Parts: sequence; C-alpha cells; structure tokens
Amino acid sequence: MSPHLTAAPLPSVRVRAPGKVNLSLRVGALQDDGYHPLVTIFQAVGLSEEVVAHQVPAGAGVSLGVTGLQAELVPTDRSNLAWGAAEALAAHVGIDPDVRLEIVKEVPVAGGMAGGSADAAAALVACDALWETHVPRSELLELAAGLGSDVAFGLVGHTAVGTGRGHALTPAMVRGEFHWVFAASREGLSTPAVFRAFDESAAAASELELADDTALMQALRAGDPVGLGQTLHNELQDAAISLRPALGRTIDLALDAGALGAIVSGSGPTVAALARSRQHALAIGAHWTAEDACDAVYCTTAPAAGARVVPRASRE
Ligand code: C5P
Repeated sequence: MSPHLTAAPLPSVRVRAPGKVNLSLRVGALQDDGYHPLVTIFQAVGLSEEVVAHQVPAGAGVSLGVTGLQAELVPTDRSNLAWGAAEALAAHVGIDPDVRLEIVKEVPVAGGMAGGSADAAAALVACDALWETHVPRSELLELAAGLGSDVAFGLVGHTAVGTGRGHALTPAMVRGEFHWVFAASREGLSTPAVFRAFDESAAAASELELADDTALMQALRAGDPVGLGQTLHNELQDAAISLRPALGRTIDLALDAGALGAIVSGSGPTVAALARSRQHALAIGAHWTAEDACDAVYCTTAPAAGARVVPRASRE
C-alpha cells in the first residue's frame, strides 16, 4: 500500500465561544474617541459560535468560510472580525498569519448578542492553540479589547461586569442556571446606528453607577430569577425601539406570556425574555410564534463558559 494514502490530515483546532445578553446596560455620553462609556453586566448564553482553525501551508495567508445560521450575511474577507483576530495574534507574536478559519454560526447575525465578537474570541483561542504560540491570557484579553468592545467577554464568558467600552471585565458571582428565550429578527440592527439614536435622544446619564445594579447582583448571587427579571435594564432599548418599533410589542407579548422580565438584547434587535423554566421558555416562544412577532425563537440557559477548545473526543 502506498504510504501517501495514509498521510495524516493537517491538524485543526475547534473552539466554541458564547453569545451574550446584557442583563444591565448603562450608557454614558459619547466621548471624543467615538465610544460611549458603559457599565454593563454581561451574561454568556448557551447559543454559541464554533470556529475551526485548520493548518495550511506556510505562506498561504488567512482564508475563511462561514456556515450555519444566517451564514449568507457574514463577510468572508478581512472585514470579518475572526480574520482580524488571526492577523492581530500573528502580528503580536511576530509570525505570518497562515490559517483556514471555518466558522459555524448559531448566534443571530447583527442581533445584539455579540456573535461576531464570539467568532473573534474563538479565533484568538483557536489560532493560539494551532500555532502553539502560548500567548498569556492577559495578552489575549488585550488583543480582544483591541478588536471590539465585546470580544474580551467572549473569551471570559459566564457573567461579568464590563466597564470602559465594555471590555474591562470583572467576574460576577452567580448561583444556578437561568432560562432564556430569544426572539430573533432576520434583519439586524447596526450597533453604531443604535448608539447614534441614543445620542439624539440625549438620554445619557452624567454619572454611571454600578451601585444602581445592586439588586440585580443580589438576584444573581441568590439564583433568584424573579429578582433578576425585575431588575433587567437596558438604556439602549428605547433607541433600538425607535429604529424598530415592533420590538416594543415583542417585549409586551413576552410579559403577557408571564416572562419574569423582557428586554432588547444589547443594541438589538433580538429580544431576550427570562423564563421560570425550560417549559415556560418554550411557551413564551410559542406565543411569539403564534403572534408572528419574530423570525426565529431560541431557548437556552445561562450562564455559559467563555471560549474553550472542544476536545477531540466530544466532536461529532
Ligand atoms: O467596539 P465595537 O466595534 O463592537 O463597536 C461598534 C460601534 O459601536 C462603535 O464604532 C461605536 O459606534 C459603538 N460603540 C459605542 N460605545 C461603546 C461600544 C460601541 O459607541 N462602548
């Protein structure tokens, strides 16, 4: 038998990273750098992105493919944040960025759930493992922050307080598991457009206070979904609804179905509803579907882990 037929496949590394919901999102006034200071509480959810980094011959450069949910909406050139992540990591360690990235999407595109940021976080971890560059976690977090405001949270996952542009993270204590259901729209919302609408409404607080989230943090520590539902808070919500008025009805429908709380996720247009149980989440989703309130419904639990390598044994 020819030895060529048994040549080992080139190595690859598979990494999964979570989407998120902002349990609280407090927004300050626009600064000179074009960003808004935030105090936010991120929670990673069970909808996750997968990035597989494949070894390619030296000098091949970066290439990228996308499959899964709404894949047709995602760029496959260097404007994709995962491509930027591979280049940033390679530049950081002084090597050529040679890699094939295959993204499998599960988080709605431009939905306010940081799916693109999860791709970038996953690409950082996948390339670091594939290239055996062993970049310390603190440096990966810095690279992540340079790529986008939500990328560092994609690395860290679980539940965390974000300050600055949202990238400076402190873990939050959480007990138990929360049941979420998401109403997704086929057509996304542009994050900069939502921030512009926020600016035009002049809704920014002059001081951002994490103390305002004390009751929410207590509910998280106690594993109290009722308390969490009552304290969900998103200061971009009115701006998102001004651009997509139907979102107000989607929130109302969730509350009609007994949701413990319902908010726009991040900059939207996904609406997140907190449920008492998986059965209840399914019932809220069924109510949305019956009322034709959204294009797709996803039930999941939270918190979920940050970007992690999927061991070979657990691959399908
Ligand atoms: O950091 P990222 O690329 O995800 O941000 C996208 C856009 O969202 C920014 O260009 C900015 O317009 C807006 N943004 C902001 N303040 C933040 C985060 C994002 O104004 N803290």
